[in-house]
Amino acid sequence: MQWKDDYLVGIDEIDEQHKALFKAASNIIAALQQRQNWLEVHCAMVRLLESAKIHFAVEESLMRLCKYPGLNGHRQEHHEFADKLMGLQRESLTDDVSFWMAAFIRKWLHEHIHNSDKRFAAFVLEVTAIGGKKNAGKRDGRLAAAFQQRKRPPGPERGSGDGGVDSLSC
Ligand SMILES: [Fe+2]
Ligand SMILES: [Fe+2]
Repeated sequence: MQWKDDYLVGIDEIDEQHKALFKAASNIIAALQQRQNWLEVHCAMVRLLESAKIHFAVEESLMRLCKYPGLNGHRQEHHEFADKLMGLQRESLTDDVSFWMAAFIRKWLHEHIHNSDKRFAAFVLEVTAIGGKKNAGKRDGRLAAAFQQRKRPPGPERGSGDGGVDSLSC
């Protein structure tokens, strides 16, 4: 399962997390294809699920912050992915679900990033003061600062604020 720049959504932090998800998904698929023992596959699935949950929380926070109208539907897709993966994890105890598991992970990541994530990222970049071509070089750094909730001096685009995630206005 290969990462392609075609998956980039334009927000560095989100793109980095997507790359990490691809890596975790590739590890599962490789473990399945190499017919590694159940424990290897199980551990790879746990790692994917944990990374995905953190990533989903970050995306949903950003959507809430920016009052993204598609939040509920998007969150539902995240829940469905986590539920399905946990179901497959359980089934793998008694059945060989490797084909379905690999196919599901591949398809879900491909479709969700291309459609739902790109749509929400475009909205965030559109409505935030940090979006737009003239600020293209700065916007990802500002989001990173917001996510890390670092204290920083007021930026040139904003007169005040501490740079924390709550101060990132949309
Ligand atoms: Fe998402
Ligand atoms: Fe995502």
